Amino acid sequence: MRIFLDTANIDEIRQGAQLGVVSGVTTNPSLVAKEGKADLGEYREAVREIAKIVDGPISAEVLALEVPSMLEEGREIARWTDNVVVKLPSTAAGIEAASTLTKDGIKVNQTLCFSVNQAILAALAGATFVSPFVGRLDDIGEDGMGLVRDMAEVFRKQGFTTEILAASIRHPVHVVEAAKAGAHVVTLPYKVLTQMVQHPLTDLGVARFTEDWNRLVRV
Ligand code: G3P
Repeated sequence: MRIFLDTANIDEIRQGAQLGVVSGVTTNPSLVAKEGKADLGEYREAVREIAKIVDGPISAEVLALEVPSMLEEGREIARWTDNVVVKLPSTAAGIEAASTLTKDGIKVNQTLCFSVNQAILAALAGATFVSPFVGRLDDIGEDGMGLVRDMAEVFRKQGFTTEILAASIRHPVHVVEAAKAGAHVVTLPYKVLTQMVQHPLTDLGVARFTEDWNRLVRV
């Protein structure tokens, strides 16, 4: 399983990348707007900035809702950097646009996936990634991780090569469950990445080793 960062915040990406375990970034219009970027030009500059830090896939989402404008925007986004992946929603228009763009060799992340049916369509459209939104399903009382498990089973049995990118991850337990469920990638808010490394017994152990060592050295 690989770890991506789910943020458009450059400082977070820079700090997260220092661990050496982050191999991609996902963004969406909400995350980009949170950083004060207001148009496609600013979105492009943000993605180019991210590409200077992370050389793995960087997902950037189209804002258009109709197929012709999705295609136009998707083709423009695909020119932003070498490693950009065009994020398209799991709507009929998004699936249709994905089918066309993937035939042209453009990488697609089919996002806002909430059912195995949508995931099957994304795989058949040739998407490189499909993003089930785990936390948002949990929010409405559905089993977000159950969707990841079912997708992994179907993809394995059908030999689909589209990678399952678990998104809308809210806490470290989600990360473990996504790994167990068979997600190929998990995209994390920076906070969850920092939470993954924390354990009180590790901190206590380091303090005790240091203390014992210093005592011995003093004797
Ligand atoms: O990349 C999109 C996704 O991860 C959104 O997460 O927490 O807004 O449901 P959230």
